[in-house]
Parts: sequence; structure tokens; C-alpha cells
Amino acid sequence: MNNSITSTSQAHHEIGHLPLSPPDSALNTPNAQHRSDYLASHGLNDTLLHKIKDDLISIALEAGRMITSADPSISPSTPKNNSSDRVTATDKAVEKKVHDRLTSLYPHFNFLGEETFTLGDKLASTPTFICDPIDGTLNFIHGVPHTAVSLALTIDKKPIVGVVHNPLRGDTFAGVKWYGAFLTTAAGVTRRLPVSPVPKPMSSLNECLVAVEWGNQRAGPNWELRTAVHKQLLTDKAEGGAMVHSVRSSGSAALDFCYVAAGWIDLFWEGGVWVWDVAAGWIILEEAGGIVVSANPGDWEPTVEGRLYLAVRGAKRAEQEGVVKELWALMGDRKFVF
Ligand code: IPD
Ligand code: CA
Repeated sequence: MNNSITSTSQAHHEIGHLPLSPPDSALNTPNAQHRSDYLASHGLNDTLLHKIKDDLISIALEAGRMITSADPSISPSTPKNNSSDRVTATDKAVEKKVHDRLTSLYPHFNFLGEETFTLGDKLASTPTFICDPIDGTLNFIHGVPHTAVSLALTIDKKPIVGVVHNPLRGDTFAGVKWYGAFLTTAAGVTRRLPVSPVPKPMSSLNECLVAVEWGNQRAGPNWELRTAVHKQLLTDKAEGGAMVHSVRSSGSAALDFCYVAAGWIDLFWEGGVWVWDVAAGWIILEEAGGIVVSANPGDWEPTVEGRLYLAVRGAKRAEQEGVVKELWALMGDRKFVF
């Protein structure tokens, strides 16, 4: 079945109005009254929610143009926590642009951004915009075309709108709670996610393509656990591993979430990234039928600020739980500590 919704030659910058439609019965949706009461308790309504989505797309596209026109080689990066955790002038300029646009449009909403975050800052329950101006800064610095602007709105500390835009490929992923998730490509084609409307069976980890990242903490117990699990995922079953199809690292947790939402990647296991890396991808994934549980065994309901994530693509719930339990079993009694 063709899942494509529009196939026009419209310019990419005109995609603000994604064809978000009422939720279909397959989605876990409360009734309309419950939904509007919930939104009203936060000063929101359906129309405003869609305006926010359109504004986030428009701001992400503008931010994307800043990224594609920047030359990181003349804007040297500086280390944050260590030599692998870097920031450029473009990260900061994009965050300022996003902040200024959002606070002028929505002055009563909070703003939490990677480059202005201070350790100890906590997500509020009131409406909050979350911004990662460049997720995949190392890719940006090296010229690898996997970087994204990641923008989300949370209420009650849960993502409700998410937009992830990779300006180098021209992909824009967007999701709105209750209304589904969509990908618009550089060619102007918009498709509902997951890309395949009937997800493939996912009976074991052995059949999965798994996203992992390497982080920038390269010593200590978290590093030992990370690399040991990566090895076990890949190792032959005869030697106690899961023998997954393979592992992939895009260098952007936001894009990893979106690739799981699309169904291109089956799972993404990650500890140590931050709320701005995952907030937008989280709602895009959920609206595509996926789930997010903890990277650590046993926690089926992680918080968006918890820094521990296992994202699983849309599939039957029993299959999703099956691969989660298999991956957790590989960890034994080891846990990330962040
Ligand atoms: C990075 C990406 C990457 C992850 C790193 C993050 P940044 O974010 O999300 O996937 O492995 O730990 O720092 O720094 O490019 O925004
Ligand atoms: Ca970033």
C-alpha cells in the first residue's frame, strides 16, 4: 500500500501545513472532549496545537538554512566537557534565533535549550519549548550530512509536539499528540509514519537493525556497559550474543528516534543523552506506534529527562515487549548510572 499523502513539486519551505488528520482508530486516543479539556487546562486548544506545529516547522526550516549556509571550518568548535563534546558558533546562533522567535510568538511558554541549559535546570509542567539547535554537532563539524534541528513542546513534562529537521538531506519529521507523525522529504513528498503502514513482524532481536551511539564519556562503568552491550548485540548466538542484523550510529539521537519512527531502524538503545536530544523524536515515535522504555532493565515508563532510553518501532505490543526483554536480558544486572 502506498503511504504517500502528497506528491507535489512544492518548495520545501512551504511544507508548514502537514496534512495532520484526526487520529485513526489504531492510535491510542482519548475522546475529543477529554482531549480538549486536557489542552484547556494548559491554556491550549487543537487549533493552537496545530499553529505551534506549523510555527516549529517554519522555525526549524529557518534554522536549517542557517546551518547549511554556515562553514564550521571558519567557526572553530570548542570543547564542552571533553574533546569529543563540542559546540560551534552556529549551535549558539541557531539556539538564539529559535529562542527569540519562540519567545516572541509565545511569551508565556518556558524555553529550555541545550546551549543555555545550566546543570540542575528542570523541565516545568507548564508548556515548555525544548530546543537542540544542532543534534549531531560532530557530524556538522566533519561535514557528515546527519545533523538536525530538534524542537519540541512539552506539557506535564511530556512531549506533545515534535519537529526534527535535517537541512542537509531535506527531511522534516513532525508529530503532534493524537494526530500522527509525518515525514516530508526534500522532494515535497509527505508520508505518514511509519513508512510501511503494516509493520513487519519483529519476533526477536536477531531480526533487528539496532541504533546505538557512542557518547562522549569514554571511561568508567557506563563506557564498559555501553561497549559490552554493543558487542553482545552483534555477537553470534552460539557465543551468547543476540546476532542482530547489525548496528548503526547516525551521530544524532534525534534522527535515531525518527528513523525508528519511520520503521527503518527497529530499536535505538541509548543512555546519557539529554532531554533536548530526544523530546521531539519521542512524540514523533509514539505517534508512529512506537514506544519508549528505559535503557536500563525494568523501567517501562521512563521520564523524558531521565537520560535513559530504549526506543522501539511500531509493531504488535507483544513483539515490542519481547525485544525489550531480550535487550534488557543482555545487560544482566548492569545498569547505566547518570
Ligand atoms: C549528540 C548526539 C549523539 C550522542 C552524543 C550527543 P549533540 O548530541 O545526540 O547521538 O551520541 O552523546 O552529544 O552534542 O550533537 O547535540
Ligand atoms: Ca546539540
